[in-house]
Amino acid sequence: SNNIVVAIDGYSSCGKSTLAKALAKKLHFIYVDSGAMYRAVTLYFIRNNVDLQNNEQIATALKNIHLNFHSRDYQTHITLNDEDVSDEIRQMHVADKVSPVSAIHDVRVAMVKQQQRLGKSKNIVMDGRDIGTVVFPHAQVKFFMTADPKVRAERRYNELLPTNPNITLEEVFDNLAHRDYQDTTRKESPLTRAEDAIILDNTDLSQEEQLLFALSHIE
Ligand code: C5P
Repeated sequence: SNNIVVAIDGYSSCGKSTLAKALAKKLHFIYVDSGAMYRAVTLYFIRNNVDLQNNEQIATALKNIHLNFHSRDYQTHITLNDEDVSDEIRQMHVADKVSPVSAIHDVRVAMVKQQQRLGKSKNIVMDGRDIGTVVFPHAQVKFFMTADPKVRAERRYNELLPTNPNITLEEVFDNLAHRDYQDTTRKESPLTRAEDAIILDNTDLSQEEQLLFALSHIE
């Protein structure tokens, strides 16, 4: 097939989804948030007390999980067994558990399969941790995003504050640092830059500047 895949990987809260949505809108591509899929699986595991050491429980859970995307204006809505969980998956109780769940082999196999299916025939922008390395190693364009950890924590804190008035900057900073550590050091598909990925450090860049930078590499 001759569809185009733009892969965006990078650390937590680097603005991957903001850039991916802007690119998708500009290019009329479909945006796929792979992190939302791991978050929805994590929510299901929490709700059903799935034991992360128990492969049988994990296999059964994965069989019972049905994820779907509904995109309105590139704001991704994800459903877990027909329930819209888009807001709940952003909460800290999910963020705290998502990295260990994402490190499980069978979880990754199931998610990667669905992600590859989504990118088979359509032009897409997908963001995550292993999109350019594992999911679409032959993606036509790859970006690897990074930014100062303090700047990232502040951005995420400001995003969460309106709906979580008790949240602290320290708590957000620690969650990001802990997730980055787990995501980069895990055995299964660790977060790493694909050799052919373009580095985008957005510590001092506006959203508009990032979009222009990315577009200049896509043409
Ligand atoms: O992108 P987001 O921060 O929503 O991702 C949440 C978590 O899901 C990450 O910290 C990582 O553990 C996991 N993830 C992953 N592979 C992806 C996308 C996300 O392991 N492709």
